[in-house]
Amino acid sequence: MKILVLGSGAREHSIAWKFSKSNRITGLFIAPGNAGTAEIGENLSHVNPENPKEVISACREHNIDYVFVGPEVPLALGVVDYLKKEGIPAFGPHKKAARLESSKTFSKKFMNKHGVPTAFAKEFDSFRSFKKYIENSSGKLVIKKSGLAAGKGVLESDDKEVLLDFGKSILKNDSLLVEEFLEGYEISIFALTDGESYILLPPCADFKKAGEGDSGLNTGGMGSICPVPGVSKELLADIEEQAIVPTFRGLKKDGLSYKGLLYIGIMVTKDGPKVLEYNVRFGDPETEALLPLINSDFVSLNEAIIDGTLAEFPIEISNQSAICVVAAAEGYPGDYKKLIKVDNLPEETKSSICFHASTVMDSEGVLRTNGGRCFTVVGLGDNFSKASDAVYSAMKSVEFEGGWYRKDIGKKFFIEE
Ligand code: AMP
Ligand code: GLY
Repeated sequence: MKILVLGSGAREHSIAWKFSKSNRITGLFIAPGNAGTAEIGENLSHVNPENPKEVISACREHNIDYVFVGPEVPLALGVVDYLKKEGIPAFGPHKKAARLESSKTFSKKFMNKHGVPTAFAKEFDSFRSFKKYIENSSGKLVIKKSGLAAGKGVLESDDKEVLLDFGKSILKNDSLLVEEFLEGYEISIFALTDGESYILLPPCADFKKAGEGDSGLNTGGMGSICPVPGVSKELLADIEEQAIVPTFRGLKKDGLSYKGLLYIGIMVTKDGPKVLEYNVRFGDPETEALLPLINSDFVSLNEAIIDGTLAEFPIEISNQSAICVVAAAEGYPGDYKKLIKVDNLPEETKSSICFHASTVMDSEGVLRTNGGRCFTVVGLGDNFSKASDAVYSAMKSVEFEGGWYRKDIGKKFFIEE
């Protein structure tokens, strides 16, 4: 099978890496890719994944059998609909279903309509009514921009001035939700779906804050773990019954079923699981921890999704634990310099893998950073303590000036181990 992976981050490197392990691959292309994906496949660096015409002409040129879409923006722009018209199967939702992620007001209406437990929320598209609501409220609230915001569209605060300022800036060109603030802990549930049935992958947790102990600024994610200690079979069964089953029933009812992955962000509260958000693609950096734990052939798994035979697919999941830690550039998530020379990276071993998040090879063949989050290192082991030793030992070999990483990824969960 000839595969094209769309995207350029560590998530896409891990997806391409997983495909590269299959002996059923006859061609592996990544558009645009990064310096890491160039080592395992062919980068189509001139192809913009957000331009369907370019994607389709790349598919024709390279006789692509299947397109795996990594990030959300191409999905929101309808790349899967364009590919379908050309008869090319793709992993990911059509444009209408992509709204579950690209419009938070749409997804909140969907959850309420289908009885999916979620935070109480009010939608606003005018500042006047929003202001009145905030002025009459009390306590901590969450404001969410409806449209895609690359992780920057949510603010929680109990300060009315802060809430009003944030809301005002959103309402200039979008609508917003004001939500009740939920207390609990978050997990990410990934459901693969062929449009008829779904299978749940092991739960993950990501670590979004820049500082140790979940302090400091929000980032695109500084690490993740898979599975999540403390998430029992009983809790997973509750989540499935209360949140996943009504979600998939609703998708079918509303004609939104698709082939790909639904990411369900869950807050486990004392009143049970509540859905924070849907994403219609694999999470980053959860995927980098999750994919090494899938033992099944990745081409065959994707074929089952294309063929609609996922329900019969005997998926094999490793019983190891995985921790992934992100190495970021100095200054990130604030201003940072790009094109820092990378002096050294760890070799892949049975217990560690280094995925590139944003890198380039310069014209002299020198590897350089190309963004804020630069590498994602994954450690694997029979338990989290071994996985932690593996990831932090491999991380010592990730060398570039100013590079930094959190040293406590997963720790808050391991107490229960
Ligand atoms: P979202 O994009 O909707 O998942 O929101 C981003 C992050 O904001 C989530 O991962 C949570 O950490 C936080 N968050 C969102 N909604 C709520 C809520 N209702 N209560 C508490 N925290 C929330
Ligand atoms: N890890 C959060 C996300 O991928 O949206």
